[in-house]
Amino acid sequence: MKRSLYIKTYGCQMNVYDSNCMEELLAPLGYKKVKSPEDADMVILNTCHIREKATEKVFSELGRMNLIKQMRENDGKEMTLAVAGCVAQAEGDEIARRAPYVDMIFGPQSYHRLPEMIAKSRRVQGLVLDTSFPADSKFDYLPLPNINREYSAFLTVQEGCDKFCTFCVVPYTRGVEYSRPPAEILLEANSLVKVGVREITLLGQNVNNYRSDVGKTEWGLGRLIRELAEISGLDRIRYTTNYPADVTDELISAHRDVPSLMPFIHLPVQSGSNKVLVAMNRRHNIDSYRRLVDALKNARSDIALSSDFIVGFPGEKESDFADSLNLIKEIGFSQAFSFKYSSRPGTPASLLPDQVPDKEKNERLKRLQDLLKTQQYKFNQECVGQKMQVLLERKSARAGQLVGRSQYMQPVHVLAEELMIGKIVNLQIIEGMQYSLNAALNHTSIKDSVRVSS
Ligand code: 5AD
Ligand code: SF4
Repeated sequence: MKRSLYIKTYGCQMNVYDSNCMEELLAPLGYKKVKSPEDADMVILNTCHIREKATEKVFSELGRMNLIKQMRENDGKEMTLAVAGCVAQAEGDEIARRAPYVDMIFGPQSYHRLPEMIAKSRRVQGLVLDTSFPADSKFDYLPLPNINREYSAFLTVQEGCDKFCTFCVVPYTRGVEYSRPPAEILLEANSLVKVGVREITLLGQNVNNYRSDVGKTEWGLGRLIRELAEISGLDRIRYTTNYPADVTDELISAHRDVPSLMPFIHLPVQSGSNKVLVAMNRRHNIDSYRRLVDALKNARSDIALSSDFIVGFPGEKESDFADSLNLIKEIGFSQAFSFKYSSRPGTPASLLPDQVPDKEKNERLKRLQDLLKTQQYKFNQECVGQKMQVLLERKSARAGQLVGRSQYMQPVHVLAEELMIGKIVNLQIIEGMQYSLNAALNHTSIKDSVRVSS
């Protein structure tokens, strides 16, 4: 039986991965993805709970979905409305109360039971809710990727978090740290390469703390990367996101030795003030962060860094904020994400006195983002004149152009034929903008592409 599925994904890359897995899980039941909820027998909102606005967006989207659901019902068509992800996990009861028209609510660790939940939802009238943390791993139940994932794909290798940064909900929504067995990961990576994937980003809330006991040997992320690099056809490896205090020498040396490991690392520092870092329960300080950056640059001199910053954490004074600006100036990030501190229910920081007024937070965020933007623009400008390896991924919105990613994740636009999609080409960068680069494709780059890509 043919059925249609619409999935809307919020938040991090792990949600993107989970949404892909849900699509794979539902394919044997006849579900095919459609582009609009109006055409869908089943709608899944895969939600994010990391900041306040994310939750409110879900509730407003649910209101819109309810209208579509009613319209479909008036036309004699059904719609099963499901809320998945971290808002479902943390606020399942609240969703059931505020949005009683929702049919299914399930968390990030129980979506492998979707086929059963769908059957149950058909049998019983009313809500099907599963926000448990099952003892068995969902990964044991997920099918191997079959659907073409384009040329760059995510692969979850580690999930959950035991770090308990005082601002963060993730340890409560994703559960304890869990690393998947290497054999399972290698199998999944091989399947991705078979459907055409050339670049894999390994995902985990603390991906650099990946560890798995196989027999007597413990595998860390460095070893996993070395093994993955042996897969023929897998040309690029990335990983995200990292916890700076857990970066090991083994991982640093993988940056030195593995050419397909991209020279770009996301190292969330959160603040440049040691006082704030202690209050956040981060286990690095500014000195250890500096040393880590130096070690990475020693291993691979062309490495670029990105980071996450929170401004307006409770108790952050102007001088602490100035420390963050100084750290940014000192390290030099090629790009970075920055957020206003958002008080999350149930987290220790939400109970701290000395919350920073919103006006102050807005003002600090603007100053920090202005500085980050200046650095990003400078970095992009410095790429002009260089040759960069770009994986061309799709047609660009600009006529006749394709867009791909450089080794540093910058979008690169180039005038090129569609048949070049999926190739890794060596492009001459001719223009650096705030968020992207323009490149030229010439005879040399085509020749290079033959050498680089198979
Ligand atoms: N408020 C603001 N930003 C947050 N982050 C996580 N929790 C919060 C919060 N409560 C940010 C951190 C983290 C990124 C994924 O989201 O910077 O690294
Ligand atoms: Fe959240 Fe900290 Fe864990 Fe990252 S390390 S997921 S910020 S608790």
